[in-house]
Amino acid sequence: MKRIVTGVRATGPLHIGNYFGALKHIIELQSEPNTERYLFIADYHTLTTVTNPRQLQKQVLELGKELLAVGIDPKKTTIFLQSGVPEIAELSYLLGNVALKGELERVATFKEKARRQPQNVNLALLMYPALMAADVLGIEATDVPVGEDQYQHMEMVRDFAKRFNQRYAPTFVVPRIYRHDRRRVQALDGSGKMGKSEGNTIGFMTSKDEIERIIRAAPTDSGKGPLTPEVEALLEFMGLFDESLQAKYRTQRKNGTIQYSELKRDLFEAVDGFIAPIRKRAHSVTEREVLTLLRKGCTAVTPLYAAVLERARVHMGLLPSMREHR
Ligand code: ADP
Ligand code: TRP
Repeated sequence: MKRIVTGVRATGPLHIGNYFGALKHIIELQSEPNTERYLFIADYHTLTTVTNPRQLQKQVLELGKELLAVGIDPKKTTIFLQSGVPEIAELSYLLGNVALKGELERVATFKEKARRQPQNVNLALLMYPALMAADVLGIEATDVPVGEDQYQHMEMVRDFAKRFNQRYAPTFVVPRIYRHDRRRVQALDGSGKMGKSEGNTIGFMTSKDEIERIIRAAPTDSGKGPLTPEVEALLEFMGLFDESLQAKYRTQRKNGTIQYSELKRDLFEAVDGFIAPIRKRAHSVTEREVLTLLRKGCTAVTPLYAAVLERARVHMGLLPSMREHR
C-alpha cells in the first residue's frame, strides 16, 4: 500500500507551470491502484511569502477552487488544510531537535529567499524543511511527488526521519521522493522559467483577452536558420497542449515555411481550449464547498497525524497523553 502526500502553497493563482510541473502528475496518480492520496494546501508554508492576512485567506480559498477545477477529485484524494491540523506544527517543533542550523542555512531555497528579502530572514524560513518533514512524516507518507526544486527539501526530510529513528526509536516511515523529471515550463516572453515571482505566467484565471495578448506578444524569428530559444520555448509550450500541432509546426520551421501568425492563432485556440473549461469550473465552485471539503479532510487526517505525534512524543521521553481526549 502506497500513501502519496504532497502540498501546494497558496502563493497566488495556479499557472501552466504549476500544472504541468506538479499537479498533472498528482492527477494522473489518482487512477493508481493500492494507493491512498492526500493533498494539502500548505498555508503555514505560505506565511513565509504572503504577509497580508486578507490576501492569504483569499488565496487559500481560490487555490481550493482551482485544485478542484483542474481535476483533483475529492473522492480519490483527501484534500486538507495544513493549519487545520495543529499536530503538524507540534511535530515540526519536535523535529527541530534533529534539524541542524548549519544544514538548514545551506538549503538553496533558504539562501535564495534570504537574498531576496534580507530584511526578513526569519525562523520560519529557516525551519521550512522541518515543517515539510512534519507534513510528510506525520502522516506516514511512502511517496512524495515533488518537482525538482523540492528534491533538496525532501532529502532533508528523509535525513531527519532517519536521524530521529536512530537517536530515539523507530518512529517514522522514511518516504521516497517520487521524482517526475518534467522539464520546466518556459515563459512565452523569452524571460526563462514561467513563475509567479517572475510575473510571466499564463494561469487558469488569466482572461481570454490576456492569453491572446501574451501569445501575440511572444517573440519569434525570421523562420529560417537556427531555432532561437524563444521559438523553441513557443514550440515546447505548444506541445504541452497539442503534440500533433507541435509536430506540424516543427516540420514547417525546418522547411522554412512557417507562418508565425498562423502558429499563434492555433496556439491560442489550443491554450484557450484547455484553460476555458477549467476557468469555468473554478468559477462554479463556492467558498463554502471548499471550506466544507477542507474541514472534512482535516477531520479525516487528524487521527493519523495525532497517532504519529504521540509516538514521537513518547519516544523522545515526553509524558504520554497529557490531554484526556488524546
Ligand atoms: P512559482 O515558481 O510560480 O512561485 P511555486 O514555487 O509555488 O511556483 O511552485 C509550485 C510547484 O509548481 C512546484 O512543485 C514547482 O516545481 C512547480 N512549478 C512552478 N513553476 C514551474 C514551471 N515553470 N515549470 C514546471 N514546474 C513548475
Ligand atoms: N514546499 C513545497 C513547494 O514549495 C510545498 C510543500 C509543503 C510540500 N509541504 C510539502 C510538498 C510536503 C510536498 C510535501 O512547492
